[in-house]
Amino acid sequence: MGAERTTPRIDPDTSKGWFRRLLPMIVARRAAFTVVLVTGLVGLALQVSVPMVLRQAVDRSLGDLDGSAAFADLERHAILLVVMASASFGLRFTYRYLLFGTACRIETDLRDAVYQHLTRLSFSFYDRVAAGEVISRANSDIRSIQLLLAFGPLAGLSAVSFFMAFGFMLSIHVPLTLVTVSTMPFVFVLGQKLRDQVFPLSWVTQGRMAEVAMVVDENVNGTRVVKSFAAEFDQIALLARAADRLRWSATALIEARARFNPMIEALPRLGMALVLLYGGHLAIDGQVGVGSLLAFSGYVTMIAMPFRMFGFVLIQAQRAAASSMRIYEILDEEPAIVDRPGAREPAAVSPELGRVEFRSVVFSYPTADPEHEGDPRPVLDGFDLVIEPGETVAIVGRTGCGKSTVARLLPRFYDVTSGAVLVDGIDVRDRRLDGLRRTVSQVPDESFLFSERLHDNVAFGQPDASRPDVEAAARIARADEFIVGLADGYDEVVGERGYSLSGGQRQRIALARTILTDPRVLILDDATSAIDVQTEEDIHRGLVDLMADRTTIVIAHRLSSISLADRVVLMEGGRVVADGTHADLLATDPRYAAILTQSDGVDVDATRSTD
Ligand SMILES: Nc1ncnc2c1ncn2[C@@H]1O[C@H](COP(=O)(O)OP(=O)(O)OP(=O)(O)O)[C@@H](O)[C@H]1O
Ligand SMILES: [Mg+2]
Repeated sequence: MGAERTTPRIDPDTSKGWFRRLLPMIVARRAAFTVVLVTGLVGLALQVSVPMVLRQAVDRSLGDLDGSAAFADLERHAILLVVMASASFGLRFTYRYLLFGTACRIETDLRDAVYQHLTRLSFSFYDRVAAGEVISRANSDIRSIQLLLAFGPLAGLSAVSFFMAFGFMLSIHVPLTLVTVSTMPFVFVLGQKLRDQVFPLSWVTQGRMAEVAMVVDENVNGTRVVKSFAAEFDQIALLARAADRLRWSATALIEARARFNPMIEALPRLGMALVLLYGGHLAIDGQVGVGSLLAFSGYVTMIAMPFRMFGFVLIQAQRAAASSMRIYEILDEEPAIVDRPGAREPAAVSPELGRVEFRSVVFSYPTADPEHEGDPRPVLDGFDLVIEPGETVAIVGRTGCGKSTVARLLPRFYDVTSGAVLVDGIDVRDRRLDGLRRTVSQVPDESFLFSERLHDNVAFGQPDASRPDVEAAARIARADEFIVGLADGYDEVVGERGYSLSGGQRQRIALARTILTDPRVLILDDATSAIDVQTEEDIHRGLVDLMADRTTIVIAHRLSSISLADRVVLMEGGRVVADGTHADLLATDPRYAAILTQSDGVDVDATRSTD
């Protein structure tokens, strides 16, 4: 399993508010946040002091002093301003860099936590939740928390800088201060108006972007279906409509921004005019110096920032709250299948190794909808089956009767509703999951290939397997013969989900993958359904050696696969209704003969005569 990266976790106490639950993640980065706070405060204090130094320079050098003393004073102030500006630059760079960096780091922590959790969640979760939804949560919701973590402290610091500036201004002239800040409420109100329009629009735009992405995604992934039904034009029209809707909301969004943003930016300039008018008046009357006028005009642009940010952060906080709820929903989801405390593994010499037993198993798939709980008809209902070590048993039954479900209970993809499943003589719920899943390995009914080299696809369960081992497994699965014919052989990278291969080729890769893991209990779930009879026969010849000393379950519709088995069980109504050799069942159970004829189109009478 390897060492999991230890990432900070959210507070598991669901009664706490969203921010308090997030706190452990923030606290884990407290050193960075402390540095941000300190450098931020000092940097802003320096920035806010600049107009004061300017004021002093103007009023003293140009007012009180004469001649060389005035020059010397001017030079001193100029140097001081340069020093302050450089120091303020350095500090502001540091805190912004650290702040945004830390916010991104917490974003990564959250993403790690979500991903680690997703890998622990059970099949029942994935049956319920759409994969696209999970991916979108992991992306946009985590991003919106990151934005708040970056801009929240920034807004806080800028609020502090407003109060510093306000204090300096008050110390110079109280009425002029009030005139200077008089336009700020309008900055806030206009900002609010902008957000009232922008937020619903950006919400809608986001949704429509997802819509367009979905159409494109489905068309790219389902291109085979689209083309085979000649549905390209319908799909293009569908995309055009979605793109049109996106364009409408995106344009509306731009219009709202274009209308309000220049107004918001113009307001401080209006404030500057007011300062000039009223402050100039005061200066002419000799009540304030020219330097003070200069200082106020510096402040009037500086103090608009906090008013613009405040509302933004408020909305971002609401967004982050909603996002965090969706993320916590995943993180709070308990994996249904976990190791029990005291889970154990069988002794290496146990006589029961490879023994499989189903004891009165009742099973229904967990439903997402609690109202449907206690489905009237469980998929498995009183399923009993014992398979001795080394035995090969075929499970036969109508499609949808629960054969694959039986296979899914052995590696504990799901837990039984009642009854028990035993592997190696131990209830699977008492075993360690990793050990159990190494013991039981299946070739699933749908083969999934990764967009990697064929070598890596075969070696998926044994990443450090050598090329000769991979080749040996591929030879048994009869995959070797077509792989060597490919341009890059085992190094050929398969297209997404292996679509560059035929169905039968994919199945053979999946078979080789399972063979390589050398499991004690092997399950072949319709593993050769897409492979021609001739190749299947070749594969079977290889499998016979492989199956000789291991327990094998063959789920099959075809007689050719069934013939691999020592024993056949017939499933119906969620239980075993007949059990015996192929010849026995054929002779005694008309249901068995009926299923064989239906599924294979074989002439049952002909097979009877050969047995
Ligand atoms: N993940 C799931 N969630 C809910 N119901 C499921 C799930 N998988 C299968 N089922 C249902 O359980 C029943 C048995 O399915 P199963 O896949 O075991 O059939 P099967 O015998 O393997 O069929 P086939 O021969 O077509 O492969 C079906 O009615 C199916 O609809
Ligand atoms: Mg199946």
